[in-house]
Amino acid sequence: MPDKNKNRRMTFFVCFLAALAGLLFGLDIGVIAGALPFITDDFQITAHQQEWVVSSMMFGAAVGAVGSGWLSSSLGRRKSLMIGSVLFVAGSLCSAAAPNVEILIVSRVLLGLAVGIASYTAPLYLSEIAPEKIRGSMISMYQLMITIGILAAYLSDTAFSDAGAWRWMLGIITIPAVLLLIGVFFLPDSPRWFAAKRRFHDAERVLMHLRDSSAEARRELDEIRESLKVKQSGWALFKDNSNFRRAVFLGVLLQVMQQFTGMNVIMYYAPKIFELAGYANTKEQMWGTVIVGLTNVLATFIAIGLVDRWGRKPTLVLGFLVMATGMGILGYQMHAGIETAAGQYFAVAMLLMFIVGFAMSAGPLIWVLCSEIQPLKGRDFGITCSTATNWIANMIVGATFLTMLNTLGNANTFWVYGGLNLLFIVLTLWLVPETKHISLEHIERNLMKGRRLREIGSHN
Ligand code: BGC
Repeated sequence: MPDKNKNRRMTFFVCFLAALAGLLFGLDIGVIAGALPFITDDFQITAHQQEWVVSSMMFGAAVGAVGSGWLSSSLGRRKSLMIGSVLFVAGSLCSAAAPNVEILIVSRVLLGLAVGIASYTAPLYLSEIAPEKIRGSMISMYQLMITIGILAAYLSDTAFSDAGAWRWMLGIITIPAVLLLIGVFFLPDSPRWFAAKRRFHDAERVLMHLRDSSAEARRELDEIRESLKVKQSGWALFKDNSNFRRAVFLGVLLQVMQQFTGMNVIMYYAPKIFELAGYANTKEQMWGTVIVGLTNVLATFIAIGLVDRWGRKPTLVLGFLVMATGMGILGYQMHAGIETAAGQYFAVAMLLMFIVGFAMSAGPLIWVLCSEIQPLKGRDFGITCSTATNWIANMIVGATFLTMLNTLGNANTFWVYGGLNLLFIVLTLWLVPETKHISLEHIERNLMKGRRLREIGSHN
């Protein structure tokens, strides 16, 4: 008979650890903005080499995400996370110690591989471990850790910047990486992965440790067994089954939507945007960036509260609307010119409003949805495609922002992103299902029956 309290603690420990992978994801996204100017000075590198220093990680992450589909289905979610954490440790140490820019770039590819594995495996693992009622909040916790990671990186960059200590900025990330590595040893593998490997005994044992009652654990195991009856997997399923192709398409689209909200434009170029808004002083820009990071963390709590209550769809629609408004007004201000102090404050308020829009919706919810909509037999393949898309789209957005400012002008650039957010409202209403409180097996049945994408979360 499972011990309820002990099992709840176990579930939280498991989810917390998987979420630690999110922290590392965030640290690695956030750290480079503050470190880059010092790296540039130290190694005397060109603008092109700087771009490589930044984008090598996203490149590695896309490759890591693709590879981890295979890793986590053949070795299991737990071993994949272990490999990911070893790479985190190695990548952080090597980048902090890099004697030249070439080694730094290679180290960042290593780190990228780790981030790619983490960004793929952790949400997948969480969605398979978390009890249905709090699944959305659990995965949003993962996003919360990403945002805390970004904020922590901004803060540590600010702290080390007086001394110009970029090696410390990059090296300090080794500490959480080691913690993750130690913690992962205590994780169980996911019951769904055990079941997919026909290790039902192990699946039942893990469920007994994670659920409130034996009845609940057995019911879940029965559901998992049921969903395993479909005998195909990954690529084969993709070729043969148009219903599965629709789920893959939706996952890819959702990640494109998340990235083309323009969030990372702000994550990577916040100081630059503060400059456009009339803040010429570097100190102001740096603190502004920290405030952006903090807002991102705090607003993620809105999502955690809403996701399993309001549901995914209304929260997403509201978020896109807030983001479109923020970008639209910022664009207007850039067009009209920001001359007064009040105008500057207003621009900052709009920027923060955009951040709130993202953090309360697309940030966490896209990861939640992507992990929920794939049928078990194709889950690895489907999530591989969507996660790799996240990184590729991330790279495109990051690599085109400055060019967009130069060719389209500041106002038009912001309007393009505003317009895209409006388009995403339409796409959400048209294609996105509501999956609140619906078991993964039920979503799968609806999808495979050929129901419309926006209806695969329906009860009946
Ligand atoms: C996105 C990242 C982004 C972060 C910001 C994540 O959900 O995938 O690209 O930098 O949110 O909080």
